[in-house]
Amino acid sequence: MIPVIAIDGPTASGKGTVASLVAGRLGFHYLDSGAIYRVLAVAAARAGITPSCAADLPSLIQMSWSLPVAFQGERVLLSGVDVSSEIRTEQAGLMASQLAVVPEIRAGLLQRQRDFRQAPGLVADGRDMGSVVFADAKLKIFLTASAKVRAERRVKQIEGRGQQASFQAIYDDLVARDERDMQRAVAPLKPYPDSRVLDCSDIGVEQVVNTIIDWYLNA
Ligand code: CDP
Ligand code: CDP
Repeated sequence: MIPVIAIDGPTASGKGTVASLVAGRLGFHYLDSGAIYRVLAVAAARAGITPSCAADLPSLIQMSWSLPVAFQGERVLLSGVDVSSEIRTEQAGLMASQLAVVPEIRAGLLQRQRDFRQAPGLVADGRDMGSVVFADAKLKIFLTASAKVRAERRVKQIEGRGQQASFQAIYDDLVARDERDMQRAVAPLKPYPDSRVLDCSDIGVEQVVNTIIDWYLNA
């Protein structure tokens, strides 16, 4: 069986940064599952579809089964068009979390995520990598940090891209998204019994990566 390392956790806990570095160190493939939910949000917005409108639900579900998303290295494409920056906005994240509460949409995106499981191995990050998508993962991590630390890191990350960010707005969005992700009925965000919780409020990326690789090699 092709090994999987599942890294789940709340927004801005460092999942993406850590997962892609772990994948690089082990020579594994990397799946950013949140990017798929974000692409769906961008595709829906372009089609003028709002997640809160019940009449739009059948179109959204259909879209989730046939979403024309592709990954090319760091680039994310929707129908062949680069949407790498567009999917990273807080608005796309918020809309993604609204779509993610719909069980039929989650089902529509399932196989697409599982297709990333290729030799020699996969590191996958998201909310339900270890609980649903790769329930047989060799190592399951629940990566977290305090909301304040996560909001501070997100602000720094956005400012690093030369954009402006308000701590309060980021913090409020982050708490709202955590709440929705934790409360939903299907695949709620929470540490699951066989996951190892890693709180990185006070530890840097390098140490987190080393810890995960160490756990994987000794799993
Ligand atoms: O993917 P996710 O939303 O969980 O988070 P991310 O985008 O990977 O990380 C958010 C920011 O936190 C990035 O700029 C990371 O470099 C930073 N980070 C950190 O400074 N220390 C950690 N232990 C983890 C992440
Ligand atoms: O990077 P960040 O943690 O902020 O978000 P993301 O991983 O890009 O995911 C965006 C949204 O998609 C999350 O708030 C979740 O609602 C949803 N999502 C999910 O439900 N399940 C996943 N496996 C990945 C993302």
